[in-house]
Amino acid sequence: MKYKVAVVGATGIVGSTLESILKKHPYVNLVARTSRDEPGYFSLNIDNKKEVDSFLSLKPEIVFITIDDDEVVKKYVEKFRKISPKMKIIDLSTAYRTNEDFVYGLPELPFRRSEIQKARLISNPGCYPTQIILNVAPLLIEFPREIDIITAVSTSSHTGAGKMAESELRPKYEDNIFSYSTTQHKHLPEIKNEFKKLAGKDVRIAFAPSAVWCRSGILTTLHIHTKNKISNEQLQDLYLSLYGDEKFIRVRDEELSVKAVRGTNYVDIYPWWNDYAGVIVVRSAIDNLMKGAAGQAVQNMNLMLGLDETIALLNQQNLSLFFN
Ligand SMILES: NC(=O)c1ccc[n+]([C@@H]2O[C@H](COP(=O)([O-])OP(=O)(O)OC[C@H]3O[C@@H](n4cnc5c(N)ncnc54)[C@H](OP(=O)(O)O)[C@@H]3O)[C@@H](O)[C@H]2O)c1
Repeated sequence: MKYKVAVVGATGIVGSTLESILKKHPYVNLVARTSRDEPGYFSLNIDNKKEVDSFLSLKPEIVFITIDDDEVVKKYVEKFRKISPKMKIIDLSTAYRTNEDFVYGLPELPFRRSEIQKARLISNPGCYPTQIILNVAPLLIEFPREIDIITAVSTSSHTGAGKMAESELRPKYEDNIFSYSTTQHKHLPEIKNEFKKLAGKDVRIAFAPSAVWCRSGILTTLHIHTKNKISNEQLQDLYLSLYGDEKFIRVRDEELSVKAVRGTNYVDIYPWWNDYAGVIVVRSAIDNLMKGAAGQAVQNMNLMLGLDETIALLNQQNLSLFFN
């Protein structure tokens, strides 16, 4: 049996990564990859009734939305929900990440997997939030009273900024590393929201992202102060107790690299007690286009369909078709 699946906004970097995974998925019939006007794609503009009717006549059961404009995304979601209420939607934008009608699709969090399995509407987490939340979840669950603030420093591939970083914005990104969003970042609301669910209280975050020219990947370093020392053995045990059975989380005790996770749905996490400074350091690496976007979206789809969540995500390099 194959499920009818569509990708709306498929010409982007994330849309093309999704296509690369879905084409290898044994239970997926990719009925449409849409674009506003790109040749070779299914033409879909939300204000064009004929195009919307034609799209819905394909009867997609699962629709991924990979449009990079929240207001436009809302128009699509509202129309789909009205005309086709049974359709399952996985939205990858920031539009619904703190909206209670949507399940925040981070399966490795406590109790989340069963919510995703029952959900019709999923908001797929952002790339930085996926990494940061998974990196601190064991600590927030175990030591909620001890932790008040987390500092996160991340360096992301330019692909985090979408296809413009390869075209119009290329001179800014190419052969460069630069800081951005120092004063505010669009991912902070979802991070704070999930921190609160994990710790049962507000936990502050100081976040400093940078961009680097590289095919894909994010390397993040967190510093977390606790009142008491935690040994490295305790840290390893703590992380393994939450993530030991997870297929996509690898708890490490060695240096990390984005190349080691590129094209995969893995999150590599390396927790360490810095005895000199008296602080927990958690370093991690993910592929922003995979576990940070398309890979996690397929993981969520698998769960929503009652399938093994690893289908089409293990033992293969799912690289974005955008670059091929
Ligand atoms: N890049 C990442 O690392 C990453 C990670 C996590 C989540 N995300 C999220 O994933 C989504 C896609 O990101 P991306 O990096 O793939 O962006 P992108 O490369 O810029 O692609 C954006 C897509 O949106 C479509 N689009 C833009 N404006 C539209 C409009 N007014 N109406 C309909 N379609 C429109 C474009 O299609 P046409 O121009 O062909 O119509 C294109 O396919 C965003 O919501 C982003 O926040 C991205």
